[in-house]
Amino acid sequence: MKILVTGGCGFIGSHTCCELLDNNYEVVVIDNLSNSKEDVIDKIKKITNKDLKFYKGDLCDKELVDKIFKNENIDAVIHFAGLKAVGESVKKPLLYYRNNFDSTLTLLEVMCKYNCKKLVFSSSATVYGNPKTLPIKEDFPLKTTNPYGSTKLYIEGILKDLYNSDHEWSIAVLRYFNPIGAHKSYLIGENPNDIPNNLMPYIVKVATGKLEQLSIFGNDYNTIDGTGVRDYIHVVDLAIGHIKAIELINKEKGIDFYNLGTGHGYSVLEIVKTFEKVNNVKVNYKITDRRPGDIDACYADCSYALKKLNFKATKTIEEMVKDSYEYAKRNS
Ligand code: NAD
Ligand code: UD1
Repeated sequence: MKILVTGGCGFIGSHTCCELLDNNYEVVVIDNLSNSKEDVIDKIKKITNKDLKFYKGDLCDKELVDKIFKNENIDAVIHFAGLKAVGESVKKPLLYYRNNFDSTLTLLEVMCKYNCKKLVFSSSATVYGNPKTLPIKEDFPLKTTNPYGSTKLYIEGILKDLYNSDHEWSIAVLRYFNPIGAHKSYLIGENPNDIPNNLMPYIVKVATGKLEQLSIFGNDYNTIDGTGVRDYIHVVDLAIGHIKAIELINKEKGIDFYNLGTGHGYSVLEIVKTFEKVNNVKVNYKITDRRPGDIDACYADCSYALKKLNFKATKTIEEMVKDSYEYAKRNS
């Protein structure tokens, strides 16, 4: 079975390509390298000892996307490509709407043309906004607080409309919680060039001496120690979730929505302390004001993903912080 992976050079996409190849799927990647590097393709080949096809280009380029479907006989698509920085999306909303909508609409139109109606879409726990209760179930009310989140929520709506118009589609919408960690080869991982927005990339930059100090955004949240609680999931577990989703959409038509997390919440301080202990390194930090828009706590109810996808994350928080640090040490 041949899978088109959009955004396959990125953090989650590259790990998913490895799992796909390891599971004997054929893989075709399209990526415009706006947030990744081309050498990831060679690294995926090295890790898996398998070949894959790479098209360097933009998913908004309909001619190119058409050419890929014409050449490749694609059976299903995993759609990762998109811009993802929340803060930047607030400053440049049109860039986010243009890129994330145009790319998705172009992809869907070409999929229709070639009668390819199997899709896995990368959504985010951000679509739940500030949940009233925890853990978060898939049928909780949806609400977003920034343009990035809105692109995810609107695309979920577009996909529902598409399925309602044509019941031949099989669509799995995966709502990721907080992916961290790296592949055990330490050849691929997360390595933002700019100052990171997210917690784990920031911690590793402090631990590796690239940044001086972590700011912990608030210690007056309604949580175990006052710092924000999130559901961190190892990126390799997350990648395996995509294999499960492909297996399901191959069997069943319809559209459905799945939380991919671990079901466990860890506070920022717990993460920092675990990182220090496991990696035997000091993380210099200070407590600062809350980051606007942040919520107290967020973690998944994973029972639906277990029931329908047979997916359960297995990697521990210790493995996650170890792998994040190892990758950063070898690639910074
Ligand atoms: P990433 O930025 O590492 O990967 C995205 C890839 O898409 C990049 O390689 C980028 O170059 C490519 N891309 C962007 N726009 C493109 C376009 N128009 N045409 C072709 N390629 C394009 O991000 P990631 O962390 O791997 O996230 C993958 C997906 O998962 C994204 O849609 C993101 O919004 C979603 N997501 C990520 C997280 C997270 O914390 N990492 C959480 C929830 C959801
Ligand atoms: C971020 C995104 C969200 C996305 C999610 C999963 C923002 C505002 N939100 O959320 O849309 O769905 O990732 O990828 O970016 N923290 C610090 N100091 C830092 C960075 C973070 O204390 O330098 C804290 C935050 O306040 C939060 C926790 O660490 O409590 C996790 O933050 P982060 O990694 O940015 O993820 P989310 O806030 O969950």
